[in-house]
Amino acid sequence: MATVSATEANEIIFDTAFNERLQQQLGELSNLYNKIYAYHPAGKDNFEALLKTIAFAFANRSTQLKQRDLKKLKTEPEHWFLSNHIAGMSLYVDRFCGSIKSLQNKLDYFEKLGVNFLHLMPVFESPEGESDGGYAVSDFRKVNQRFGTMDDLLELQKEMQQRNMYLMLDIVLNHTSHRHGWAEKAKNGEQQYQDYYYFFNDRYEPDEFDRHMPEVFPEAAPGNFTWVPECNKWVMSVFHSYQWDLNFRNPKVLVEMVDTILYYANLGIDVLRIDAPAFIWKEKGTDCQNLPMAHTLLQLIKQCVQIATPGMALLGEAIVAPEEIMKYFGTGNKLAQECDFAYNATQMALQWDALATGDIRVMMAAQHVLLQKPYGTSWITYTRCHDDIGLGYDDYMIGKAGYDPFEHRNFLKNYYSGNYEGSPARGALFSVNEKTGDGRISGSLASLCGLEAALEMSDKKEIKKSVQKILLMQAHSFFLGGIPMIFYGDELAQTNDYSYLQDEGKNYDNRWMHRPVINWDKVEKINEPGSVEKAVFTGTQQLIAIRKKLAVIADKKNLTWLTPHNIHIAGYLRAWDDKRVYCLYNFSDKEQHLTWYVFKENGMKPGKLYDYWSEKKIIVKNDHEYFTLPPYSFFILEPV
Ligand code: GLC
Repeated sequence: MATVSATEANEIIFDTAFNERLQQQLGELSNLYNKIYAYHPAGKDNFEALLKTIAFAFANRSTQLKQRDLKKLKTEPEHWFLSNHIAGMSLYVDRFCGSIKSLQNKLDYFEKLGVNFLHLMPVFESPEGESDGGYAVSDFRKVNQRFGTMDDLLELQKEMQQRNMYLMLDIVLNHTSHRHGWAEKAKNGEQQYQDYYYFFNDRYEPDEFDRHMPEVFPEAAPGNFTWVPECNKWVMSVFHSYQWDLNFRNPKVLVEMVDTILYYANLGIDVLRIDAPAFIWKEKGTDCQNLPMAHTLLQLIKQCVQIATPGMALLGEAIVAPEEIMKYFGTGNKLAQECDFAYNATQMALQWDALATGDIRVMMAAQHVLLQKPYGTSWITYTRCHDDIGLGYDDYMIGKAGYDPFEHRNFLKNYYSGNYEGSPARGALFSVNEKTGDGRISGSLASLCGLEAALEMSDKKEIKKSVQKILLMQAHSFFLGGIPMIFYGDELAQTNDYSYLQDEGKNYDNRWMHRPVINWDKVEKINEPGSVEKAVFTGTQQLIAIRKKLAVIADKKNLTWLTPHNIHIAGYLRAWDDKRVYCLYNFSDKEQHLTWYVFKENGMKPGKLYDYWSEKKIIVKNDHEYFTLPPYSFFILEPV
């Protein structure tokens, strides 16, 4: 009798699993595809091409990754990524440590902090000076030589996998650099490649579009179209003039991009960050954001990934209004079948709102929307990232707290850009639109929390206060549910880095002020007693360690907001089975009081609570007595 080797047996298992997935999902795949391309003349041919792409990606997937897929699938419906054991960091390879190779030597540093999930900001080829931090890609499959090589990336991934760490990279889906091969051919007049983008002979259609499309970078890149002198045409460029929007109405573009997505999956990516998905479908007469077809496209992409490379989760980077963000998890019969993750951008911005006002009411007014996130999906929770802070939550939420929306946003912008008397924050306004009055906020976590100003004044009390604020902000986002994503440098209390002003390729974009170049001599300070670096690093480390101890923090849609009857304190309960953790945050600069009843309103009467942060026990008193929270303090409390 012929014997089957272990490798062959494995292949049979993998193939069977793949065939099952394909059979089960082919119908839906074709439905979704036909919703978009049924009437396209090249629709049929490209559907075949799409199926080939899927089969090819599976065939090229390494045994190790196939094994990892099956292991990850085993945890369902409690997906692997809902775990409280994952903590992330987002970083620019070059600014963090120079190259991918040296990043490999920093894995111990991440482990020391507790971080086991890395988001590498775009690492693929992107023209210097016209790169938008790597989000203008000129070659999707070539690692930018400034960072290293594809082999370096693969080696890093292998080492990370051995250490049980997860990797996230971006797919820049909405656009390419104008230096991408497709764009160069389009400039040369090749119709086939002009069809990859939105090209127009004159201003008629661009003007029609522009009437309804907002501007993303009104200062650095006004309008949504760019004149291409090489071919005497206009091209759509929603972001910078050097970022040309891909035309997903052309099924060939879809196939090319799915092929790239699956190619990335085969590099061993655990989570794929889909950049700017809100923009991928354009329709004249609309604002060209969050359109239903954009969701269909994402569902289609999800389906392809689920069949070929199911271990890779998808993060939709939709930084839009709260109700629109929620739709990226899928709606109706596609609930929880679109993106596995979204950034909790609303909550992030609302934390900054609460910190400036010391009042959590606007934050609370948004929760009925955020709580609708479907089971099985999750958030990336964060306080800062490489982008600006947009105040995109709804006017009615601000109104509900009793503020005038226009005045309130003005206050926040002034507060964080240092234009409000008495504000300790050092940030700047980003992308101010003179026509609409809109504006967003740049600045690092530490500088926005007042550390830069406090250090300049050598004011010990203010320094301490800003460290407390930094940790309060991090703690609030670490325990909400979802994967916390630290922005590199924030664990070191890094203040704004103004060196970008000397760089012509960057000085038009003040988001670079909060994208620091790390000085590793300064990192040594995390070992220096009394330094702010040590206070923030060890504080962050402790917060991650606490998260990992508490299974109830895993994102099982198990958050209930408490009613503290105090507008300065945000409190939520995380509960599962008989486990409970109460998280309380005082966003004001004054001592606050809370009735002890807050711990009893959800059907439990704890006698004693253990605070994981101060490592002290607290005795719960009578309802008419008060629990006191010092300014900017927080508590992570478990009944004992
Ligand atoms: C995303 C990125 C941002 C970039 C934009 C265009 O929003 O986070 O940095 O400018 O997409 O790619």
